[in-house]
Amino acid sequence: MSLPTKILIFDTTLRDGEQSPGCTMHAGEKLRMAHQLAALGVDVLEAGFPIASEGDFESVQAIARELRGPRIAALARAKREDIETAAKAIESAPLHRIHTFLSSSDIHLEHQMHISRAQALDQAAEAVRLSRSLVDDVEFSPMDATRSDPAFLTEMVAIAIQAGATTINIPDTVGYSTPEEYKAIFRRLKTELPDSDHVTFSTHCHDDLGMAVANSLAGVEGGARQVECTVNGIGERAGNAALEEIAAALMVRRDRYPYQTSVVLSQLYPTSQLLSEILGFACAPSKAIVGANAFAHESGIHQHGVLSNPLTYEIMTPASVGVPASNIVLGKHSGRRALEHKFNTLGHRLSRTELDLVYARFTALADRKKSIYDQDLIGLLKPEESILAV
Ligand code: KIV
Ligand code: ZN
Repeated sequence: MSLPTKILIFDTTLRDGEQSPGCTMHAGEKLRMAHQLAALGVDVLEAGFPIASEGDFESVQAIARELRGPRIAALARAKREDIETAAKAIESAPLHRIHTFLSSSDIHLEHQMHISRAQALDQAAEAVRLSRSLVDDVEFSPMDATRSDPAFLTEMVAIAIQAGATTINIPDTVGYSTPEEYKAIFRRLKTELPDSDHVTFSTHCHDDLGMAVANSLAGVEGGARQVECTVNGIGERAGNAALEEIAAALMVRRDRYPYQTSVVLSQLYPTSQLLSEILGFACAPSKAIVGANAFAHESGIHQHGVLSNPLTYEIMTPASVGVPASNIVLGKHSGRRALEHKFNTLGHRLSRTELDLVYARFTALADRKKSIYDQDLIGLLKPEESILAV
């Protein structure tokens, strides 16, 4: 029996993720996070942008020296100085990669780079050739690919492949694409460039329209075999595709995506928690997979279902992604069944009459109070004797 096709997970938490406001990490923090990403099982770890600052160079170098497991990538603009600095920063990693990029959209070429299409093609080819003279593994990204003229994008990708790129990444830099469009780009490139069989195509999606994960999965359907993503979805502006969502989607919907990854799913939550601790802020409670409410149930109907059989309202077990336990949260929508369950876990077995009385007090309290704590529940029992005696 043949194994399912593998999707490489390229983590860019320490590069694109770090580029988001409030997410700067110092070298020690990056190293700690890098060790956790290795434990998570990512295939490629983009450690930083060495030319950006001395600090970034040093942290990429420290990660390259110390970390074993993932391939260590460093970002470089399509410029000699960037590429040579990146190569130096990653030289001690047994597996390494230079990731070089240049815009392919007219809006970037005209208004940011001030170069012609022909100049961009020459610069891209030269950058990939130089990178290949320094390392065996070279990724090329035509930046703003999804807003580029499709024919020109194909031309630039063809030139990068000819120059020796081993991975072609298609960035949806401004989060503009839709799943259908994004999938079609990979299909077209693969059809128009039949010699690209030996190259790995990669997705890189931003979340400006909330479609980063959907677009990444569509890219996989179109033929991409590497997905670039970040823990907790941190990244420029609205962020990057969230690693935990991609990994969980590939597990839960294996029927639709028959692929495997090296991600150790039970490390998803610990990795997310470590990043939150390092950054000093948690992700939104409603964040899929790792948010505080991702496995919390407040309404009576849902609580009843989950207590009878978790599969009624949970599509994966919390344990499968490393979340300690499913969370029954009491609030004004909760029912008797959840209240009884909660009292049982607190060591109180209530008779039917007691439960009815305490439930009436509970709903009155829940109408006034946003969060109900264990002490509040115990407090509801206190006047029990007198009430039960009435
Ligand atoms: O979003 C983007 O285009 C990037 C590139 C540098 C790959 O992050
Ligand atoms: Zn990006």
